[in-house]
Amino acid sequence: SLKEPLKVMISGAPASGKGTQCELIVNKFGLVHISTGDLLRAEVSSGTEIGNKAKEFMNAGRLVPDEVVTAMVTARLSCDDAKEKGWLLDGYPRSFNQAQSLQKLKIIPDVYFVLDVPDETLIDRCVGRRLDPVTGKIYHIKSFPPETEEIKARLITRPDDTEEKVKSRLEIYKKNADSISATYSNIMKKIDGNHSKDVVFEVIDSILSQVQKDKETKIKLG
Ligand code: AP5
Repeated sequence: SLKEPLKVMISGAPASGKGTQCELIVNKFGLVHISTGDLLRAEVSSGTEIGNKAKEFMNAGRLVPDEVVTAMVTARLSCDDAKEKGWLLDGYPRSFNQAQSLQKLKIIPDVYFVLDVPDETLIDRCVGRRLDPVTGKIYHIKSFPPETEEIKARLITRPDDTEEKVKSRLEIYKKNADSISATYSNIMKKIDGNHSKDVVFEVIDSILSQVQKDKETKIKLG
């Protein structure tokens, strides 16, 4: 069948569940997941030039300078796998300038998701988050504890997940949110993220399935 790959953006405050939903979206739709947070953390842990530039900003809970992140993201988006399978952009754009950079390059998504979660829930989710450095899987000490003792023993906490830094990340998010949504207002889908991850995914899944169907119809008609 004719297929035009999906192009999806997901946004939301720190710990609103972007990474968690991306895991589920990738499993079902096979998109290439491009998370700027994950890409930057990988650069930091391998001690690259980008990583060295990004490290102090990230650890302080501040945004890494636009030019560093934009170069990294546009390089990743232009790889063959992203063009063939479609992409799921997570954590970018995070400022008005970043949104403008994509517009200039005519990189425009089919749908822009915004996960909406109350502040007090966000703090608890961040402080309880743990990552598995081996599989990249995201856990939570209360909501999603690790499956085995072996996994539990190797889990790590992100240096920017203290209550104080979460508050500063949240403030920066709120300052930028409106100017970014303005760019994508015609394709924006606000999702209530304050439910179990499966319930949140059901909503996202039904929207994406519809968007995919619409794209196929458009190709057939075109
Ligand atoms: P990034 O990694 O993107 O961090 P973030 O936006 O703060 O988002 P998080 O990763 O904290 O949360 P998430 O929404 O993915 O939630 P998760 O699924 O893990 O960025 C980190 C840093 O990199 C930035 O601060 C900045 O310095 C830099 N950076 C990145 N992009 C940049 C850019 N474009 N420009 C400049 N700098 C940039 O879930 C959180 C927790 O909640 C987990 O424990 C999870 O298990 C739990 N949880 C998830 N869903 C649910 C649910 N439905 N119910 C209960 N618990 C849940």
